[in-house]
Amino acid sequence: MGLHFIGIGLSNEQDISLKGLELVKKADKIYLEHYTAVLNVPVENLERLYGKKIELANREFVEKENIMVEEAKTKEVAFLVVGDPFAATTHVDLFLRAKQAGVDVTVTNNASVLTAVGITGLQLYKFGKTTSIPFEVKSETPYNVLKDNQGLGLHTLFLLDLRPEEEKFMGVREAITYMKKLEQKIGEELFDDNTLCVGCARLGSPDQMIKAGTMKEFSQTDFGKGMQCLIIPGNLHFMEEEALALWK
Ligand SMILES: C[S@@+](CC[C@H](N)C(=O)[O-])C[C@H]1O[C@@H](n2cnc3c(N)ncnc32)[C@H](O)[C@@H]1O
Repeated sequence: MGLHFIGIGLSNEQDISLKGLELVKKADKIYLEHYTAVLNVPVENLERLYGKKIELANREFVEKENIMVEEAKTKEVAFLVVGDPFAATTHVDLFLRAKQAGVDVTVTNNASVLTAVGITGLQLYKFGKTTSIPFEVKSETPYNVLKDNQGLGLHTLFLLDLRPEEEKFMGVREAITYMKKLEQKIGEELFDDNTLCVGCARLGSPDQMIKAGTMKEFSQTDFGKGMQCLIIPGNLHFMEEEALALWK
């Protein structure tokens, strides 16, 4: 018995690790967290591979209800998370609740968007604070984070809002519109049409898309479906410039 946090990677059912798969095969209950990220394949693909039924877990279920912790006292419970379980999620709260209840907890790591962006050529240790862009323009946080990171010459990764239950995923274009609206509201000039941006869609998938271009170009670029993120680079090392040229 126990609660098993299992990262299932970024693209499809094949991305789970052997260790994760073994835990899933032994599990009495399998929950798939379904609000911070999604794979590019339907849940049925995972069920077919595991030979088991999966229950979707929304925010309310994970954060407010204590069902998984209670069940894990007498059963093997697998909690599947797209990407890596604690990367850009708040699941450490569930981890703590389980520990405090005396439940056995295991964590199986996997790839995350936070490291997958390394394919752009931008060096991971030169990223500053990561920030999220919500659907509604209500918070100035993304702008302030960009400002702080730029002040230090660091790259900024923007994670974009999503509502999987409505099949709604913010795209790079929408993110840029959001940032421009904020800039107008705040009345400063952090960027303009020529500012270099890097957009990534469906990282880790066979049809992933990575592009480097100006903000103006990006307002007209369609990155397609699925999860997307935006990077505004800081100061570039010549190796980073060389790598980015690949994606222009
Ligand atoms: C809240 S984070 C969760 C990250 C996940 N736990 C992980 O380790 O990758 C989800 C956001 O990251 C970005 N993201 C996640 N996976 C992505 C991918 N494969 N390609 C592009 N962006 C991705 C999107 O902006 C998405 O809305």
